[in-house]
Amino acid sequence: MQRARWISALSLCSVLVAAAAVAAGLPAKPDLAKGQTIASQACAVCHGADGNSPSPANPKLAGQGAEYLEKQLHNFKPAQGKKTERENAIMAGMVANLSADDVRNVAAYLASQKPKGGFSRSRELVVLGQKLYRGGNAATGLPACAGCHGPNGAGVPAQYPRLAGQYAEYTMAQLNAFHDGQRTNDTNRMMRSIAAKMSDAEMRAVSDYIAGLR
Ligand code: HEC
Ligand code: HEC
Repeated sequence: MQRARWISALSLCSVLVAAAAVAAGLPAKPDLAKGQTIASQACAVCHGADGNSPSPANPKLAGQGAEYLEKQLHNFKPAQGKKTERENAIMAGMVANLSADDVRNVAAYLASQKPKGGFSRSRELVVLGQKLYRGGNAATGLPACAGCHGPNGAGVPAQYPRLAGQYAEYTMAQLNAFHDGQRTNDTNRMMRSIAAKMSDAEMRAVSDYIAGLR
């Protein structure tokens, strides 16, 4: 009797907490099963069913921070009257029909998947790449990538994306896009000011090093 009363008091509490969360506009927990359905139907051809893209033409998404993935998906959406924050013709089409809940669910699903490692291609590039990644370049004021993206490139969820194991082609393309001001969705111009300090050879070296990080 006593116990039953406790249990019903507890369940009333959780109902109240849930109701308060809805009233406060807090999102419910992401639905991984729904996210998986979206990923396998709409994203798998390019990014792989578990986010481990089979082709260097498309980035790996498995194990990436959910908040970062969500931000990018929103940034790809053309906003009426405003400049699209991250312009990419392919991804603009992909996100056009995704609701905010879809975005949250698919991001959470991809974040929960195990990333498959990659590999570096050039022994010489990796030496310079590692130096830049860990220590930056004092002569040009380039900060170490590790300072934000972590010593192993695992990133800091919600703040700095994971880089480890990414295809060098994709990393290089993004560094170039930040360098040339084609990608402008980095808060406080963080990556644009960093890429501006990098030579083509430095971008190439650090991209090759990152591909082999795990
Ligand atoms: C036809 C191929 C294709 C399909 C299908 C596709 N994508 Fe992409 N996606 C790309 C390409 C190419 C890029 C790189 C864009 C760039 O260079 O900025 C990308 C980039 C992304 C990024 C940014 C990654 C990062 O590290 O910043 C996210 C997130 C993403 N896609 C999620 C999705 C999701 C979720 C779906 C399914 C709803 C999807 N994509 C479907 C080709 C595709
Ligand atoms: C001061 C912190 C900081 C430092 C240092 C830094 N980054 Fe970043 N980086 C960021 C942030 C923040 C983003 C996410 C931008 C966004 O929201 O789209 C990012 C994004 C990136 C991306 C895009 C990832 C993707 O999946 O599309 C690449 C590539 C990258 N950084 C490479 C580097 C490299 C290489 C270095 C070292 C030369 C470096 N970063 C140093 C903060 C930093």
